[in-house]
Amino acid sequence: MVKILKKERLAENISRIIVAAPHIAKAAKPGQFIVIIPTENAERIPLTIADKDLEKGTISIIFQIVGATTKLLDSIPAGGEIAHLLGPLGVPSHIEKFGTVVVIGGGVGIAEIYPVVKGLKEAGNKVVTIIGARCKEMLVYQEELRIASSELKVTTDNGACGRKGFVSDELKDMIATGEKIDLVIAVGPVPMMRVCCDVTKPHGIKTMVSLNPIMLDATGMCGVCRVSVGGQTKFACVEGPEFDGHQVDFADLVARLKPYKDVEKKAFDHVCRLLK
Ligand SMILES: Cc1cc2nc3c(=O)[nH]c(=O)nc-3n(C[C@H](O)[C@H](O)[C@H](O)COP(=O)(O)OP(=O)(O)OC[C@H]3O[C@@H](n4cnc5c(N)ncnc54)[C@H](O)[C@@H]3O)c2cc1C
Ligand code: FES
Repeated sequence: MVKILKKERLAENISRIIVAAPHIAKAAKPGQFIVIIPTENAERIPLTIADKDLEKGTISIIFQIVGATTKLLDSIPAGGEIAHLLGPLGVPSHIEKFGTVVVIGGGVGIAEIYPVVKGLKEAGNKVVTIIGARCKEMLVYQEELRIASSELKVTTDNGACGRKGFVSDELKDMIATGEKIDLVIAVGPVPMMRVCCDVTKPHGIKTMVSLNPIMLDATGMCGVCRVSVGGQTKFACVEGPEFDGHQVDFADLVARLKPYKDVEKKAFDHVCRLLK
């Protein structure tokens, strides 16, 4: 059992929990994730380690409530316990001095990029962070990212905060200024990552994306998380989740996320009834 020390609601459907996990905090690197089973018999889901505090032996997890398991996790109050937590998992983000790096976060991906931005800045890079969300309430971690980045650019679909438009519009404008960009990292919804790759590909700017296929064991045994990269099958849990975006077969990823929608909806309705 793992204790939730603190819990807060960051936006309408986004929560942050801080949990006691000293061994994970010690070993975790930017880009890695944990697998969580909120209550006995619940499903296992992967969530990114959004931050860690070595002194306190804690990690932060930021999650969007989208279905049965995230709803169950959100029902556990501060002081309550999570049944199982496993990690850190996945290959850490490659951190070194590249030069100018543009890190892009969309939706809940905004919180997921925080440790990567911090790591790249500490390694001596100029880090331009671009974040975007549907509305300003979903723009979590804005101040933290402003402090951690060399520069922060903000977009919202409706223009209520920052530029009206998409993160890819800011990326296009930055490329148009002629500033040399050594690397782009994009984390967020699949369509957002795909568009960012379409923008950078003609300019030959290396672009890494963090893929979010459905995962089951998350230890490389079941094959559920397989993705197609450069024509080869990769297991995102042990060989990712970051891959070269110009090599990713996004259509295949979208198709593999679809088949369980009906079952997921039924499970969500069931959990909502149980929690009433
Ligand atoms: C490596 C990795 C790291 C992740 N980190 C985070 C994180 O830090 N915060 C966060 O909120 N989410 C993160 N996710 C996504 C998260 O795992 C899913 O949202 C979660 O599994 C949904 O479970 P559920 O039972 O609540 O909803 P489900 O019933 O499983 O799904 C509800 C809806 O969400 C969609 N969905 C399910 N799984 C995913 C997925 N992996 N990606 C996109 N859509 C999905 C379904 O198609 C469905 O429409 C991560 C995924 C991966 C693979
Ligand atoms: S989730 Fe089973 S192999 Fe990756």
